[in-house]
Amino acid sequence: EFYKHPKEVEFSFSGPFGKFDRAQLQRGFQVYKEVCANCHSLKQVAFRNLTDLGYSEPEVKAIAKQWGTKAKTFDAKTGDAGERDNTPADHIPAVYYAGTGNPPDLSLITKARHEGPEYVYSLLTGYAEQPAELLKKFPDAKTPEGLHYNPYFANLNIAMPAPLTDGQVTYADGTKATVDQEAKDVAAFLTWTAEPKLEKRKQTGFAVLGFLLAATVLAYLSKKNVWASAH
Ligand code: HEM
Repeated sequence: EFYKHPKEVEFSFSGPFGKFDRAQLQRGFQVYKEVCANCHSLKQVAFRNLTDLGYSEPEVKAIAKQWGTKAKTFDAKTGDAGERDNTPADHIPAVYYAGTGNPPDLSLITKARHEGPEYVYSLLTGYAEQPAELLKKFPDAKTPEGLHYNPYFANLNIAMPAPLTDGQVTYADGTKATVDQEAKDVAAFLTWTAEPKLEKRKQTGFAVLGFLLAATVLAYLSKKNVWASAH
């Protein structure tokens, strides 16, 4: 009874005509890069995929080159391990996380969780004090040291500390960076990472429906024609 269903959110990509909002995806990527990437990997995404968000190739090159976690190299002959700058062909590098818990890779998180985009948004904006009724009913259920109460997380206590604050990022497009905005933007971005071809899928659906409609009309007319003199 204390566990909450994700909040209702209206995303630009909701519904049959839904489309990604490129400016929002870029803001969400900025949140991922500056906040989430400290702990979470995004290994299914290559830097070059970011051209999909509207970045130019030189911009993508610069993003890859300046990425905080460098690409690992290994020389099989000498056995030397090293590092180099990332290139557009590299995937976003895994991060080493030394804190409590195990941050999952976020590439497919919006598909792995029920109502994924709404869930990610709700989780990020859902940190709260533990309700008094909960402790009254279950006195032993106090949030353990190192965990954080969040009613949108299935077991109510999550190892991830609230990652977002107002003004956590400074958006290049001037959008006001409230926690709510940052959460929405990163949820949209993580919807794109999980399903970059979402728009194509929806368009294809309409083409299929159009074809089926035309085929039905034809079938009906030919049936009329074939049976025209039957009585
Ligand atoms: C778990 C998103 C930032 C550490 C998660 C989960 C999501 C998420 C969706 C999975 C919850 C589930 O399993 O259903 C994000 C986003 C971030 C962010 C979008 C940026 C806005 C961070 C940061 C840290 C962190 C900065 C480290 C300081 C963790 C840990 C878990 C986790 C340890 C595992 C929690 C557990 O299983 O109890 N995060 N995260 N996250 N995150 Fe983050």
